[in-house]
Amino acid sequence: MKIIFISHSTCILEIYGNNILIDPFLSENPIFNKKSLYKYINYPIHYILITHAHYDHICDVDLFVKQNRPKILVISNYEIANFFEKKGIKTYGMNFGSFVTFPFGKLKYVWAMHSSVFPDGTYGGNPGGFFLSTNDGNIYISGDTSITYEMSFLPNFGKLKLSILPIGGRYTMDAEEAVTASKLLKCEKILGVHYDTFESIKINKKNSINIFNKNRKKLILLDSGKYIDI
Ligand code: NI
Ligand code: MN
Repeated sequence: MKIIFISHSTCILEIYGNNILIDPFLSENPIFNKKSLYKYINYPIHYILITHAHYDHICDVDLFVKQNRPKILVISNYEIANFFEKKGIKTYGMNFGSFVTFPFGKLKYVWAMHSSVFPDGTYGGNPGGFFLSTNDGNIYISGDTSITYEMSFLPNFGKLKLSILPIGGRYTMDAEEAVTASKLLKCEKILGVHYDTFESIKINKKNSINIFNKNRKKLILLDSGKYIDI
């Protein structure tokens, strides 16, 4: 599995020929280099996973769908799926419930402690994250969330190879809390997201990495366009 970090919480997962875009926020993202926008929009995307309805997570769904129609499938909670279905987009709505099998693996919508409303005021259902189980191992994409006790339950679904956690603070966990989260998750490797995009979530990268090192955990921070293989 290849995980490409783009910006903010936006990543692309490549799993056996399936390209999965997470929480697309590029065109209005203040720190994303707009010269790269065209490159990503032309990337063949088969699925979009949406964690919650906030603007910095759904902003470019339409843009990617337009480019990848009619095959692309938007996967999210029931309310967010409905919102995009009404726009004529192919969706798959789920809720906090069982694992659902897709060609790339098994996916479960899991708990987050946050909020979820569209920019136009439409209710975005409960915010969540995804537990993804594949032949390459399991990963957890938390979405925006504070630390939750539910995180300690997730290892019951399988050993996590990687967790993608927000570390910018204020609206979500910061690095220190993300260390505690990674202990609850029994996960050694964290890809940090949701930082530096706005003034209010600026971090000191070195300090954040050190906090993880001190706790014998690994925080990975990628430049835009860089990737890791797990
Ligand atoms: Ni949010
Ligand atoms: Mn956010």
